[in-house]
Amino acid sequence: MSSKLRCAVVGLGMGRNHAKTYAALPDSELVAVADLDPKRLEEWAPTIGASKCYTDYKRMLKDARPDLVSVALPNFLHAPVTIDCLKAGAHVQSEKPMALNVAQARKMRDEARKRKRVLGINLSYRFTAAAQSLKALADDGFLGTPYHGVTRWTRRDGFPKFGSWFGQKKLSGGGPLIDLGVHRIDLALWLMGNPEPVSVSAAAHDLLAREKAKRLKAQYDCEDLAGGFIRFKNGASLLFEISWGAHQNDPESMNTTVLGTDGSLVHRNEGGGYQFVAEFHTTRAGQKLSGQIPVQKGFEGQSSQADLVQAILHGKRPLADAEDGLRMQYILDAIYKSAATGREVRIAR
Ligand SMILES: NC(=O)c1ccc[n+]([C@@H]2O[C@H](COP(=O)([O-])OP(=O)(O)OC[C@H]3O[C@@H](n4cnc5c(N)ncnc54)[C@H](O)[C@@H]3O)[C@@H](O)[C@H]2O)c1
Repeated sequence: MSSKLRCAVVGLGMGRNHAKTYAALPDSELVAVADLDPKRLEEWAPTIGASKCYTDYKRMLKDARPDLVSVALPNFLHAPVTIDCLKAGAHVQSEKPMALNVAQARKMRDEARKRKRVLGINLSYRFTAAAQSLKALADDGFLGTPYHGVTRWTRRDGFPKFGSWFGQKKLSGGGPLIDLGVHRIDLALWLMGNPEPVSVSAAAHDLLAREKAKRLKAQYDCEDLAGGFIRFKNGASLLFEISWGAHQNDPESMNTTVLGTDGSLVHRNEGGGYQFVAEFHTTRAGQKLSGQIPVQKGFEGQSSQADLVQAILHGKRPLADAEDGLRMQYILDAIYKSAATGREVRIAR
């Protein structure tokens, strides 16, 4: 019998990357994949090395009995499918966002606790080589006391599959904020040492998307841009701006800057794509020092699937788990509520 962790994946969009990773890691194997769309199964299963394919994930859980399942489905399915997998005895990695809202995310967290299963959330930007280097510096005290952050991910015209589930609130939970904002807000919080959020003041706009939906006769009822301000219990603060479309120069612009009393750290993309750099700024012995930390570009850092496999095998906490997903969900719910009411919203956990 194999001593490798037996992994499965539901959803073969982003899930293809999960599947390839499980198949390639030394301590895991890919035992099955499921997708509602038989064409996607037919097209991708051979290239990702999956021998067992299912259109019904419940049958997959019964037949293949995986130890770990990645749930890489449209957002409205994260909660119900994760809970089904946990009930079938599997550990789970849910894609981000954890769920559509706090109520669903709490149910997922509680089910994992009850069944003593590990529930990881794919906060994949923590695993970029640039983010790993910055976190090592932050944990080593480079920042001093982190007191403010600015985090952005804005696109010129980067609506994912316009007219699909991504732009329909009941299926996605929201627009760019819940899709992209999750990553950039998480990155800032993580580098700041995960301070406890206490309130949010935010705005959301949909003027560009509304016009585009009308022109293309497509379904769309989410924001196209969200911006705002988060306060934390320790006095720290965070500004954020996230969009799928706006008149700007770069096709894609990401920048997360965390300011501390002793220095600042920056995780940003270069050249309008997915190459990331890690920067620092500080003053030491009266000298202003700035520089780039040499890191691998892109996602070559340790993957979140690799981290989760090791966490399960060695009984450790994964780097991004249900508590991280749930904390983010409180922030997301508060941002959408603040944007809808035009008022500051307190976060009571
Ligand atoms: N971590 C990241 O960087 C990252 C990147 C991209 C997407 N994502 C997340 O991954 C998730 C999926 O996004 P995507 O871009 O792959 O979407 P997608 O629409 O391309 O793919 C979803 C897949 O799920 C399948 N599916 C739908 N309902 C199903 C069901 N009941 N049973 C089995 N299969 C079903 C669809 O047929 C489709 O193949 C989203 O939550 C998204 O936020 C994360």
